[in-house]
Amino acid sequence: MTETEKLRSRPKRLRRCQLSVPGSSEKMMTKASALELDHVFLDLEDAVAPNAKSAARGMIVEALNNLTWTPKTLCVRINDVETQYCYEDIVEIVTGAGEIIDTIMLTKAKSAHDVMFVHLLLDQLEQKLGLKNRIGIECLIEEVEGMMNVEEIAACSDRLECLVFGMGDYSASQAMNLRSVGGDGGSYPPDLWHYPRYKLTIACRANGLDPVDGPYANFRNEQAFRTECERGNVLGMVGKWAIHPSQIDIAQEVFSPSVKSVEDARHQKQAYAEALEAGLGAINVDGVMVDAASVRILQNIIDKADLIGM
Ligand code: COA
Ligand code: MG
Repeated sequence: MTETEKLRSRPKRLRRCQLSVPGSSEKMMTKASALELDHVFLDLEDAVAPNAKSAARGMIVEALNNLTWTPKTLCVRINDVETQYCYEDIVEIVTGAGEIIDTIMLTKAKSAHDVMFVHLLLDQLEQKLGLKNRIGIECLIEEVEGMMNVEEIAACSDRLECLVFGMGDYSASQAMNLRSVGGDGGSYPPDLWHYPRYKLTIACRANGLDPVDGPYANFRNEQAFRTECERGNVLGMVGKWAIHPSQIDIAQEVFSPSVKSVEDARHQKQAYAEALEAGLGAINVDGVMVDAASVRILQNIIDKADLIGM
């Protein structure tokens, strides 16, 4: 296997939308279980008050075991390694629902060591419990230290599947002057998040990980949410969080290629294959130049469409 093939051999999951659901809310977990979307994560971190965290672990285990889940990927978000909660979050969730969850999401990672703590604990638990499925790690980059070390973090563990840019904590960590999570930069046009999104996306792509964009708190502003989705999508991110059900369909739509673009990509790829047979390296397909580089871009669209089943 070449290095590139190894990178691409990680589990392939859709992450057009990841819905955050407070693990202390039985009502919201029940609601989330019936929603059509790619990915849901049950939260033990910021959506759960400190005095509710211990009980929330049990509630999450119960919800994972007893509900029928429509979302394709099931994840639990845990507290960071500098808290008293982290190890017990992992032990209790994996012991109670290790066969059901696909991934664990680590918060506030600052360095590769933080991710390796989770990685090694999962090694031990999987051995002890005899779990058949290997549990993946998703990791939030939301501290300035994490953003500085994002390249080393992205490369550190073969359990890692995705990095999420968490702009809420990130803006606090950088002491940005903002009023709401994920909101625009006001007098900082056109896109306050350009640099961290771009940086994280490069680190992900170089290591075969999915780059995901974090929350937008003002959930009644659907147009602004759509704009944020479009910005991430152009950069090569695969999806965005939803903190409210009203955001799901927008993210799922924006991060899906259009039917027309998939048809065009398949058509152009076919035309290019025929051109190569005829000894041509660059051709005109309906007024668009197609060469080897454009076929790589087209292949990204086709791969995504295949994963979605389009
Ligand atoms: N997951 C599942 N269901 C949710 C949900 C979520 N994230 N957010 C809202 N709902 C449900 C509500 O329970 C309500 O259900 P109902 O119609 O059966 O009563 C319905 O969707 C509509 O919700 P609405 O009344 O508009 O919002 P709310 O005031 O109940 O909740 C928030 C607003 C922000 C408190 C809530 O959306 C929330 O807790 N979001 C997640 C926060 C989070 O996870 N933060 C951490 C990551 S950034
Ligand atoms: Mg956070």
